[in-house]
Amino acid sequence: MCGIVAAVADRNVVPVLLEGLRKLEYRGYDSAGLAVLNGGLQRLRAVGRVAELAAQADAVRAAGTTGIAHTRWATHGVPSERNAHPHVSGGLAVVHNGIIENHEALRERLKADGYAFTSDTDTEVVAHLVEKKLKSVPDLFDAVRAALAELEGAYALAVMREDDPSRVVVAREGSPLLLGLADDGCYAASDASALLQVTRRMVYLENGDCAEIRRDGQRIARIDGTPVERPVIESQLSADAVELGTYDHYMQKEIFEQPDALANTLEMVGAARSLQPGLFGAAAADALQGARQVLILACGTSWHAGLVARYWLEAIAGIPCAVEIASEYRYRDSVPDPETLVVTISQSGETADTLAALQHARSLGMTRTLAICNVPESSLVRETALRFITRAGPEIGVASTKAFTTQLAALYLLTLVLARLRGRLDAAAEARELKALRHVPAAVQKVLDLEPAIKDWARLFGGKQHALFLGRGRHYPIALEGALKLKEISYIHAEAYPAGELKHGPLALVDKDMPVIAVAPNDALLEKLKSNLQEVRARGGELFVFADADSEIADSEGVHVLRLPEHYGALSALLHVVPLQLLSYHVALVKGTDVDKPRNLAKSVTVE
Ligand code: G6P
Repeated sequence: MCGIVAAVADRNVVPVLLEGLRKLEYRGYDSAGLAVLNGGLQRLRAVGRVAELAAQADAVRAAGTTGIAHTRWATHGVPSERNAHPHVSGGLAVVHNGIIENHEALRERLKADGYAFTSDTDTEVVAHLVEKKLKSVPDLFDAVRAALAELEGAYALAVMREDDPSRVVVAREGSPLLLGLADDGCYAASDASALLQVTRRMVYLENGDCAEIRRDGQRIARIDGTPVERPVIESQLSADAVELGTYDHYMQKEIFEQPDALANTLEMVGAARSLQPGLFGAAAADALQGARQVLILACGTSWHAGLVARYWLEAIAGIPCAVEIASEYRYRDSVPDPETLVVTISQSGETADTLAALQHARSLGMTRTLAICNVPESSLVRETALRFITRAGPEIGVASTKAFTTQLAALYLLTLVLARLRGRLDAAAEARELKALRHVPAAVQKVLDLEPAIKDWARLFGGKQHALFLGRGRHYPIALEGALKLKEISYIHAEAYPAGELKHGPLALVDKDMPVIAVAPNDALLEKLKSNLQEVRARGGELFVFADADSEIADSEGVHVLRLPEHYGALSALLHVVPLQLLSYHVALVKGTDVDKPRNLAKSVTVE
C-alpha cells in the first residue's frame, strides 16, 4: 500500500508534495514523511495524518525544488517516526510502496558490509543497497537499476541524492506509478489524482520500468538499461471528482453519487434493446461464446459483487460459476478448465492478491480473462484480454460503495450477454431486462430518500458491540456487504449469515443486545425468511428489517421495518445494499469514528 509523490521543478515543491500526499491518503494514513534537497537533504517525518507533516513543514519552512514524499500503511514495523519514509543512507533518500520480499537476506548482507539500520522496514534495505551500488556505479540512474536487479517483491520507488539535486529516479514493479509532465518540471506519483494539481499530461510506467525525472524532462529504461518510450496520456480525471464539495465525508458523497455513477456506467449501453459482446472488448465475442464456466476472482467488497453475480450467471445465463477470494485461490491447488472465463473484479485494479490470482489462473492455461474495474489505466485492466470499465468516478472513502453498485451493473450486463450467446434469453426478454436496468439509477435515488428514517435507526446502534445480518439467495451477499460496511467504519463486530443457517449456530448469540438486520425483499424466499425472523424474535433479538413496499412484514414490538419503494426482481440486490451503506455511515457518525479513513485499513491494497 502507501502512496508516493516525487517532484523536480522550478519552484518550491513542498506544497505540491503535501497536496499530492493528501490525495493519496486513501492508500495509507498511519504516518507520512518527505525529503527535499536544498543544499543539503532535509527530511521530515510524522506519525499520523498528512496534516501533521504539513504542520511540521510549515513550522520549519521546508523548501526545495527537488523532493520525494510518502504516506504509509504499515507492513514491516509499527507506525512510528523511525519507520516512516523517506529512509536514508548517507545523502540518499528513498520512498517505497510495496514489499521487498527478500529484505531479510539483503539486510544481513548489508549489515555485514557495515550499514547500520535505524528502522524495522523492508524499505531501508533499498536505501543502503543503492548507496552501496553508487560506490562502483557512480550514476544514480544506473545505480538504482543495479539495485533493482537484486530486489524481489513489489515496489514503486523514488530515490534522490543530496549531491545530484537535478533529478529523482523512480521505478515500478507490481505497484502503480506514473509520471506527470508539467511546464515547470516533472513529477511522479502513485496515482493521477495526486498530480492533477500540476498537470494532466501523464505517462504510465509499466512493470520493470525505471525512469529519471528532471526539471526539463524524463527518460525511461528497462531495468537492464534498454531505453523505452511510453505514451503521454491526457488524464480525463476531473479535479472536482476528487473534491468533497458540500458533503461531510467522501463515503456520504459516494453513496449519494450512486444514481449518477450507475447512469454513467450504463451510458455505454445507450438505448439499445440488445447488447453486443463487444461491450467487453474487441475479442469478446469469441472469448465469451466458447466459455464453459465462469471463475470470479476478487477481494473484499468486489468479492461480494462476484457472489451476487453467481446467482445471476447460473440462473439467467445457465453457466456454471465459481467465486473465489483471490488470496485463497492463488495458493490453492484447483482443477483448471482452459475454457473458463476468468472474471477479475476490482475497484482499483491494483489489488495485489487479485493481480496474482489472475496470473495464477493464466499460468494454469486459462486465457479468457476479463477485468471489471473502475480505473482504466490500472494494472488489472492492462493484463486482461477483455475489460469493462465501470464509470463510478474516483472512490476515495475506504469503504467501497458506488464502486460496488457499478460492478453489479457491469456483472448484470455480462450475465445478459452470456445468456443471449447461450440461447437462454430471447430478444424480447433481453429488451425488458435492459429497460429494467436503465431504471435502476432512478430506483436507487428513491432508496436514498429513506436516509432520515435510517438515521433514526442508527441511534439505536450506538451502544451495541455486535450485530447480525441475515439475507437469503442473492441477498445473502448483500447481508455480507452490510456487515462488512458496519465493521469497517463503525468497529461494531458484525457477521452475516444466510438466514437458513441461523439455527445451526448463530441463534445462540441472539439476545436483546444483538441487533439483527434482515434484507427482506419480496422474493421467492420471503416466507422462509419470515420464519427465520420469528426465530430471532422468539429469543428477544431486536429486528431491523429492510423490506419491499409490498412485503407483508408488520412493525411491532422489537421489529422495526423500513420499506424500499419498489420491488425490483433480480436487480433488487442493487437497491437493497444502499440502505445498509447508509446505516453503517450513520452508525459511524453516532460512534464518532473516522468514516473515510477507518483505523488499520487502506483503500488500495497493493501488498499481499
Ligand atoms: C480494500 C478496500 C475495500 C475493497 C478491497 C478490494 O480492502 O478497503 O473497499 O473492496 O480492498 O479492492 P479492489 O480495489 O480490488 O476492489
